[in-house]
Amino acid sequence: MSSDAGISKQAYAFLAELIYRYSRIHLGEHKQQLLTSRLRKRRVELRLKDFDAYCELLRARKNDDEIAFIVDAISTNHTHFFRERAHFDFLMQHALPELNRRVAASKEPIRCWSAASSSGEEVYTIAICFAEYEQLHKPLKWEILGSDISYRMLDKAQAAVYEQSRLELPSPELLKRYFQKGSGKFEGSCRVKEMLRKKVTIKRVNLFEPSYPISAEQHLIFCRNVLIYFDKPSQSELIRKLSLQLAPGGYLFIGHSESLMGIEHRLRPLGHGIFMRTK
Ligand SMILES: C[S@@+](CC[C@H](N)C(=O)[O-])C[C@H]1O[C@@H](n2cnc3c(N)ncnc32)[C@H](O)[C@@H]1O
Repeated sequence: MSSDAGISKQAYAFLAELIYRYSRIHLGEHKQQLLTSRLRKRRVELRLKDFDAYCELLRARKNDDEIAFIVDAISTNHTHFFRERAHFDFLMQHALPELNRRVAASKEPIRCWSAASSSGEEVYTIAICFAEYEQLHKPLKWEILGSDISYRMLDKAQAAVYEQSRLELPSPELLKRYFQKGSGKFEGSCRVKEMLRKKVTIKRVNLFEPSYPISAEQHLIFCRNVLIYFDKPSQSELIRKLSLQLAPGGYLFIGHSESLMGIEHRLRPLGHGIFMRTK
């Protein structure tokens, strides 16, 4: 069966497997509606009569572009500034003072990776924390990498333009200091100022690619609210990969509703969703 509204069992199984193999996003058994509603436009654009024909096309194609497009369409990208605020309090009050003593003294920059950064709110929240800390502890060298699997989200992160009504900043001074208000047809939106954007590199990284295109070890890795989309074996693999990318003494942050229970690791728990690589 395959009607305009539906998807055959085989087509769903094929697409779910393809998505899993590529991104480890585990759709489960009941996401047919989500998948078809997100991909219907694409199917129509490609003038395919049903999802079986779409699967045929995917089988025939050798490159990854179409599957990247599918993952882009189905991924959940919800995020906001200062989400799970306690992590940023910890960053300012504990991690940055400690890294400043240890890393900055060696003249190295403090390096931070936001590994599933969605549309950039997490990256720029971290950048605001660094900049605030730097005001009181000059000079401080730092750099932030923001990455995601979704091209659509990376474009947004690169543009760094957000609706002012949705900024949810802890104090109005931060808005003045770090955002430029739009005017005319951009009324109501704000752009992160150049002083922060220039510290941030945005690039595409699939968390499950064989080796990350990141040369240096990171002192801080934020990988929050993405583990929940993966099954246990994939979570274990990801934590192992991230631990290797973390400098000894570096910090890993995962989402408040995520945990490393049942995952073998050598990280020391420091707080809610906060871990340290000890060696
Ligand atoms: C819910 S958002 C989390 C955003 C932010 N970290 C936060 O906590 O607010 C999850 C992000 O993970 C990304 N993602 C999912 N699978 C991924 C993968 N295999 N590699 C890289 N990013 C992935 C999605 O595209 C999405 O933008």
